[in-house]
Amino acid sequence: MSKAIAGFSKLTKEQKIEWLSQEYFSNPDEAQTLLRKYWNDDAALQQLHDEFIENTITNFYLPLGVAPNFIINGREYTLPMAIEESSVVAAAAKAAKFWSARGGFKATVINTEKIGQVHFLFNGDTNKLNQFFGEIKHRFFSGTEAITKNMKKRGGGILGIELRDKSSEIPGYYQLHTTFETVDSMGANFINSCLEQFSKILKEEALIYSSFNEQEKQLQVIMSILSNYVPNCLVRAEVSCPVDELCDDAGINPKEFAEKFLMAVRIAETEPYRAVTHNKGIMNGIDAVVVATGNDFRAVEAGVHAYASKNGKYSSLSHASIDNGIFTFWIEVPLALGTVGGLTSLHPLVKLSLEMLGNPSARELMQIVAVAGLAQNFAALRSLTTTGIQQGHMKMHLMNILNQLGASDSEKNKAIKHFEQHTVSHAAVHEFIEELRKIKV
Ligand code: MEV
Repeated sequence: MSKAIAGFSKLTKEQKIEWLSQEYFSNPDEAQTLLRKYWNDDAALQQLHDEFIENTITNFYLPLGVAPNFIINGREYTLPMAIEESSVVAAAAKAAKFWSARGGFKATVINTEKIGQVHFLFNGDTNKLNQFFGEIKHRFFSGTEAITKNMKKRGGGILGIELRDKSSEIPGYYQLHTTFETVDSMGANFINSCLEQFSKILKEEALIYSSFNEQEKQLQVIMSILSNYVPNCLVRAEVSCPVDELCDDAGINPKEFAEKFLMAVRIAETEPYRAVTHNKGIMNGIDAVVVATGNDFRAVEAGVHAYASKNGKYSSLSHASIDNGIFTFWIEVPLALGTVGGLTSLHPLVKLSLEMLGNPSARELMQIVAVAGLAQNFAALRSLTTTGIQQGHMKMHLMNILNQLGASDSEKNKAIKHFEQHTVSHAAVHEFIEELRKIKV
């Protein structure tokens, strides 16, 4: 029988849950109990979350962890990280501590320019279109003053508008390629509102432009939208120290380590299969802080991976060198982030995360997030090129396995102690718990 339903969005939350549990679950009561268990007792807080999206039935938790001991441009930070993967926060904290004893992280914002485009079709004389654009360009600025007024007061606005001829790629295809400064906001709403206004102006002006023939006057706007590819909204983070100082309590040989580390980075620079995983590790750090600070991680992901392919081949976002005995490891990433607007003043935990970071400007947040990515990458490459990744990863995953096995607190404590000296694997933990339970019986 079809599960199609009309007017679902108009139902109350209770009705939605009732319908859903009856239609999709073998045990509707159990499903309903679970959904309700995740509701917040504070009705106002729950309503706030319900209203973030449509058709909310419950909350979906992610742990919010913190990684302390970050020093960024001489200032101490504890980073909020919202992420489900066991070892990520521990790895960030470890890298932070390691580098805090070696001068910390340095970060610089290279540029903060955002991009939006009006995509349109024009079948006619390109020279006339160029002339038309030159004559009406000022209208795009004056016709958006109501939208740009506040942004201008904050130091932002429309930076430039270009007419781009793309007709060699698609016949008749042109763009209004526009650059924006959106200061502390991510700027999606601001940019899209400006672009939609441009689109109106473009169509209206074309209709009354006397040099256009009838076909040229019917210029057709296909769409107006910001681009999440922001290669000029760029931040760099780096760490460096004399190679000799790369040793730590794990007793690694610093020179050997530095050379192996460099080779691991070179492999990610040249081999796309490795680069994707290498960059995924970077995104473990980036996304966790991006989510905790209420930013759009899908936009960040899309933009970052496009940037990783900017030279025509997917490659590493981070790089490393050894010059005159100095090891340097750095990353350059495009990050369009906001610390005002969006969820930033709405989600209580986002507000808390931003306060934990000292209520940063968007530029500062770009630096912090880039550092989180670099720290994560350092921790991953350090493990990969020395002990292997599984040792640390499985240690952190131990608790998940114990929870899967329904271990009690006392069983957990015994297992944690035991696996300090033994390799963690699903089978080994299973066996250990079974043995414990046999002894008890
Ligand atoms: C796992 O989430 C991330 C790593 O695979 C990253 C890497 O391989 O560099 C460990």
